[in-house]
Amino acid sequence: MRHRVTLIPGDGIGPEVAEAARLVVDATGVAIDWDIQIAGAQALEREGTPLPDRVLEAVRRSRTAIKGPITTPVGTGFRSVNVALRQELDLFAAIRPARRYAGLPTRHPSVDLVTIRENTEDLYRGIEFERGAPDTARLREVVFDIAGYRIAEDAGVTVKPISITGTRRVVRAGLDFARRNGRRLVTVGHKANIMPFSDGVFLATAMEVAEEFPEVEVRDMHIDEMAMWLALEPETLDVLLLPNLYGDIVSDISAGLVGGLGVAPGANLGWEYAVFEPVHGSAPDIAGRGVADPIAMILTAAMMLRHLAETDAADRVEAAVSRLLEEGRTLTPDLGGFAGTMDVAGAVANLAG
Ligand code: NAI
Repeated sequence: MRHRVTLIPGDGIGPEVAEAARLVVDATGVAIDWDIQIAGAQALEREGTPLPDRVLEAVRRSRTAIKGPITTPVGTGFRSVNVALRQELDLFAAIRPARRYAGLPTRHPSVDLVTIRENTEDLYRGIEFERGAPDTARLREVVFDIAGYRIAEDAGVTVKPISITGTRRVVRAGLDFARRNGRRLVTVGHKANIMPFSDGVFLATAMEVAEEFPEVEVRDMHIDEMAMWLALEPETLDVLLLPNLYGDIVSDISAGLVGGLGVAPGANLGWEYAVFEPVHGSAPDIAGRGVADPIAMILTAAMMLRHLAETDAADRVEAAVSRLLEEGRTLTPDLGGFAGTMDVAGAVANLAG
């Protein structure tokens, strides 16, 4: 079956790692019609916006997209393209696997984690009250009237909304991911004892939805205890299901446990659309030199193949990366080697083809 995929190369090292990933996907023999859409710095220059409508329309048409990182322009008045894409396409679940590969020096011998992060609510919703602003003074009065609590006059405030609706959909997507990928255990991270009306909603909703997935074991853990196990014995954890802020922090810890940003893939999923992107940014410090590590983008492409039900091709790409890292001969400088981006891509493509 042929697939249509929107490819957004991005900027900085984006086009380099996107070309590498495309080479590898094409080598698997899976038939893909690539619909290439420019966004980011180049689009800003040519069309006056880093995220033209045609890009969103293209993703809506193909439903599946893979993107390289995009620089967040500073001082232009434009918000992050990455955040805008997630919001416009309602990509409410971020999925970030972190697996340890033989050959990469790490502290723990066998780590195989997947962080599933709620992408739209929580302290990252953007409900901010600035210290000293008139709205903040009003908020302080309301909180005092309702709760009898005096927020300090010199405090800034961030609001943390967590809803049943917002939680239910990420839990369903997360447990569905766990079931489809044969994962044994899902741990819900929270601090419901301290924040019963926000984290409490997340926990209660997750446990209720879990009953729809009897084949997946679901348990819960305080987020601070999870932090301890991540440092001590990460191999005892499997899939981590988390509200937005905890998910952001924990996915970076997990990437650090397995060798860093150069090998950390990711996906943003909604009910209708899926946008696959590595965890790393546009790395302006090494852009244009052909030395960016394409592994994160190649593993991101493998996640995309799995999403397209091209399981055999996804398995081959992951096995090829595994072998390449274990052999340790063709590595980019971030992993201690001397190879270029396309050398690594070519080697993976040969092994996966
Ligand atoms: P970054 O991830 O681009 O770079 C951090 C460090 O990791 C740099 O030293 C870089 O050279 C290195 N690095 C990252 N990816 C690498 C790779 N594949 N191979 C080898 N080394 C790699 O983070 P930074 O510098 O904070 O952000 C740069 C720009 O990227 C910013 O404009 C930021 O907003 C944007 N960004 C975009 C993201 C996205 O498109 N989803 C995600 C994160 C940041």
